[in-house]
Amino acid sequence: MILVTGGTGLVGAHLLYHLLKNDDKVRAIYRSEEKIEKVKEVFSYYDNDVSLISKIEWFKADITDVPAMIPAFVGIKKVYHCAAFISFNPKDYREMRKVNIHGTAIIVNLAIDAKIDKICFVGSIASVGDALNGNLITEENEWNKEQDNSGYSITKFGAEMEIWRASQEGVEVVIVNPGVILGSGFWESGSGKLFSQIYKDFSYFTEGITGFVSVKDVVKAMVLLMNSEVKNQRFILVSENKSYKEIFFLMADAFNKKRPSIRIKKWQTAIFWRVSYLLSKITRKEPLLGKYAAISAHEISKYSSEKIENTLHFKFEKIAATITETCSFFVNDHQNDL
Ligand SMILES: NC(=O)c1ccc[n+]([C@@H]2O[C@H](COP(=O)([O-])OP(=O)(O)OC[C@H]3O[C@@H](n4cnc5c(N)ncnc54)[C@H](OP(=O)(O)O)[C@@H]3O)[C@@H](O)[C@H]2O)c1
Repeated sequence: MILVTGGTGLVGAHLLYHLLKNDDKVRAIYRSEEKIEKVKEVFSYYDNDVSLISKIEWFKADITDVPAMIPAFVGIKKVYHCAAFISFNPKDYREMRKVNIHGTAIIVNLAIDAKIDKICFVGSIASVGDALNGNLITEENEWNKEQDNSGYSITKFGAEMEIWRASQEGVEVVIVNPGVILGSGFWESGSGKLFSQIYKDFSYFTEGITGFVSVKDVVKAMVLLMNSEVKNQRFILVSENKSYKEIFFLMADAFNKKRPSIRIKKWQTAIFWRVSYLLSKITRKEPLLGKYAAISAHEISKYSSEKIENTLHFKFEKIAATITETCSFFVNDHQNDL
């Protein structure tokens, strides 16, 4: 049997569909019933097929709760660890350390105790280092702890270290380091928010560049790696390196909306995140723009996925196709709001 953490999130929900479609027996961790409804929505994007969801054995637990998690490992051979807390708000740092690092340490300890065969961990490009001289970033680029890293980046790196510990203790591991993941569902969080904003005629863009990948490719690569002989390696998952401007324009075109027309410069975001920070202290609300989100909007980081392409003969979907499909699901989901 397979255990999936984070099954009620973007990656986990799409992964659950793919595992069930392959007839795998799956136990999935969840925290609230209402999030299971989100998984149903994701299943409906695939041939409108929500019937498979009844085959999931749901298991209620918080991954940081050791006593609650022990029984989740009974009868398990493989673990897909997708659960994480994603935030760029400094106030969430302690909680992120707890979920991402401590939570992963708990998964690793229980996997070692239960003699699990293999773990697939969803890391991030946030825990891969920069390349020198504008070269493409590969799996060999080490994360630099001396840099001004975001709390998210620090905790994803810490989690990855816990996963390497599992490999030292005899559990086979594969780590995927996806770029920004684009896919249907969860329109109010993560990259889903980008689709929502462009749909509402968002006017601004920046020219920072990063790696993008479709959620379907992420889960496809995870399953292929888990079912292969590959072990104790990490793989960058990026289909294409694109600027936010290009991504926003593709989204606007797919929605048949006006393209964002106001280019935001680095100094403008630098002022804006500071003002947001001060306002958030007064209003006690989340800042509209955090420091690290502001920095990454202008950063130029380009990634190579040559390793996964060569190892598995993996072919990524083009980002334009991912965006066109995702936008059509978005419009479908929002028909009643039109
Ligand atoms: N989205 C991206 O662009 C992106 C890019 C690169 C890497 N990643 C990585 O991909 C993985 C999945 O991301 P995602 O986009 O699917 O995130 P997501 O949609 O925010 O889902 C996060 C999942 O983790 C679960 N979770 C969080 N804290 C938990 C806890 N204490 N106990 C149990 N479950 C907990 C959430 O459960 P609830 O539903 O109960 O909240 C949810 O199922 C993460 O490791 C993330 O770092 C994401």
